[in-house]
Formats: sequence, C-alpha cells, structure tokens
Amino acid sequence: TNLDLEIGELDKGDFEHFMLKEIYEQPKTIEETFRGRLKPEYSEIVLGGLLNVFPRIMEAERIVIVGCGTSWHAALIGEYMLEEYARVPVEVEYASEFRYRKPVLTEKDAVIFISQSGETADTMAALHLAKEKGALVLGICNVVGSSLSRETDAGVYTHAGVEIGVASTKAFTAQVTVLTMFALKLAKAKGNIGEEEYQELVKELSQIPEKGKQVLENNEAIKQVAEKYKDAVNALYLGRGYLFPVALEGALKLKEISYIHAEGYAAGEMKHGPIALVDDNLPVVVVAPHDAYYEKIVSNIQEVKARKGNVIAIVTEGDKGLKEMANDVIEIPKSHPALAPLLAVLPLQLLAYHIALLRGCNVDQPRNLAKSVTVE
Ligand code: G6P
Repeated sequence: TNLDLEIGELDKGDFEHFMLKEIYEQPKTIEETFRGRLKPEYSEIVLGGLLNVFPRIMEAERIVIVGCGTSWHAALIGEYMLEEYARVPVEVEYASEFRYRKPVLTEKDAVIFISQSGETADTMAALHLAKEKGALVLGICNVVGSSLSRETDAGVYTHAGVEIGVASTKAFTAQVTVLTMFALKLAKAKGNIGEEEYQELVKELSQIPEKGKQVLENNEAIKQVAEKYKDAVNALYLGRGYLFPVALEGALKLKEISYIHAEGYAAGEMKHGPIALVDDNLPVVVVAPHDAYYEKIVSNIQEVKARKGNVIAIVTEGDKGLKEMANDVIEIPKSHPALAPLLAVLPLQLLAYHIALLRGCNVDQPRNLAKSVTVE
C-alpha cells in the first residue's frame, strides 16, 4: 500500500543522513518523474494533468512562474528553457513579492506555482491572487493532495517521493525535470523547436539518470574538496546561462546547512561587485562545463586567480585546461547545455553536505529553518 511505501521511505537505510540519502536518490527520482511521460522514440511528451487546459496554455500571452527558495531557482531554469525553446515570454517571481506588489495579471496569463510541499504560505497567497485575477493557475508540486495541488486549475506532480531533509535536493531536480518536459512539449506544440533538436533534448533527458550516477561516484573527491574549504567564512558561486540558477542554488545549499555566508552570482556580474571580495581566503565555486559560455567563464576564473582566489571548478569530463587553472576540479559528464543543471547541481549539494558535516552542523535540520513555511 501507499502507506507502507511512505514509511519505508522514512528510513535512512545505509545513509547517515536523510539529505545524503535524498541526494543519492536523484538518478531514481528524476527517472520516476519522467517515467511514463516520455513516450517511446521520444515522439511525444505526455503530461496528463495538463491535458484539459493545454489549449489555454497555448493561447497564454505570458507565463509567470512563482515560488520560494529552491523552488524559485527551479523556476529560473524553467524560464530559460521556455523562452529559448517555446518562445513564450516568461517572468519569474518570488511569491512573497508577487503577492504584495500589485502585479499586472489577466486571463491571458498562465501562472505556474512551484512548491515541493504545496503548503508554503506566500506561494498559496500568490495563487489566490492570480486566481482572483482570472489567470490560468497551474502547479508543479511534490506532495499529493497538498493545498496547492487542490487549488490550482491543473498541474504536474514531481515524483520525488517524501523529502525529509530541510534543504531541498531531490525535489529540485524533479521540478527541473518537469519544467524541461513542459517547455519541450510547449515548444513542439507551438512549432518553435526543430524535430531534431527536440529529439536530442528528450533523449538527453532520458540519459540524465545514468549520468547522474556517474557524478555521484565523485563523492569521495568532493569530500576532500570540502576538507580544504570547511573553515571558509564566505563563498562565491558563479555560473552563466542555465547554470546561473545552479550557482544560486549551490550557494543556498551551503548557506542553509553550513552557515557559511555564500552568494550566487551570474558570472558576468562578478565585475560589478563580488570581485572586490576576492582574496586568498575566498573559495569561488565556478560552474564551468564546456558550453557556449566556456571562454567567458574561463576568463572569469583567470580574474579570480589573478587576485589569489581559490577556484573550485565544476567541469566537463576530460577538461584539461581548467584542471591546470583551478585549485580543484569536479567533473561531470558531457550533456546538452539546457540539461546541465540536473548534473551540475549534484556536486554542489554534496559539497554543501560534506562541509556542513565537517563543521558539526545538523544537516537534516539546520537551525532557524523549516521544511515547509506555512506562516508568513
Ligand atoms: C523552505 C525550505 C526550502 C524550500 C522553500 C520553499 O524555505 O526550507 O527548502 O525550498 O521553503 O518550499 P516549497 O515547499 O514551497 O517548495
């Protein structure tokens, strides 16, 4: 029965903490999130929950995505994908801002609310506002039967399973998986993506679980990196394009569970402030896989190195140049740039986990934070 399954999942098994267990579950939970939804030969993506409202989604003049915390970071990745492939204007909003700032909303908007718990007070208030204005309200949610899932017009469940660690991990990658499927489905329905690119992306998504397993095999190496930087006071995370939100998420993970002050930045913005912080004490985590931004991110790394900063680079397997340039490198398998977030976030989750553990922090229940923030 479902109940047995849920109780089974509350067991840490061989893992020391729920967070580590949940990090390791991701190849499986990503797969469970797309299973039955990616059809054979990648010809079709089926999101049953959206079937009835799909014509309205097609007509929407704008998509707004609303969330808090890690769910907001997933929303940013969704924005990049929806704009690149479906060619629909997208805005991403913090629920706490959106609900109070008198946003312009009409029946021509589709608003997607992303929430692991489906109970976050600000997200629910934003949902009520959007509904009142007549927008189509959709949900991407992990908890079946939650308030969010009951009050939206339609939605898609992430099949991440119960998430216990307060710092979200597997719910995030499941959200990104759903957003990827949604963006590709919409892109195809609108005729804004070529068949070949569509097939390539869908196929790439289906291969993420296998590649994710490879990333997790670097755990020991990541632990050694953690040893080196566990006493840092500040940390900077940089990324570009699809990996900018991953930089934000990596910084959030570190901040949440290790209490090290960390900031995520779009790498191109480094020169407008964060570069002033760089000295020989500052670890700078740079998400730098081999993509169209590679040369630019390499020059960011050089700028950090020239100021004696310590660079931890997340690189594509086999990258030799950055191995020489950076203090530490963590490899991830090659993948499509739009899907790289699903791989690049894994080492950042593990890095935060190990640093927090080495500092003696309670990784599953960090101080002052709650799993689900149901009051304002
Ligand atoms: C809390 C949690 C975060 C989570 C955020 C949004 O701050 O500690 O991990 O990302 O709420 O939660 P939701 O359930 O709406 O995704």
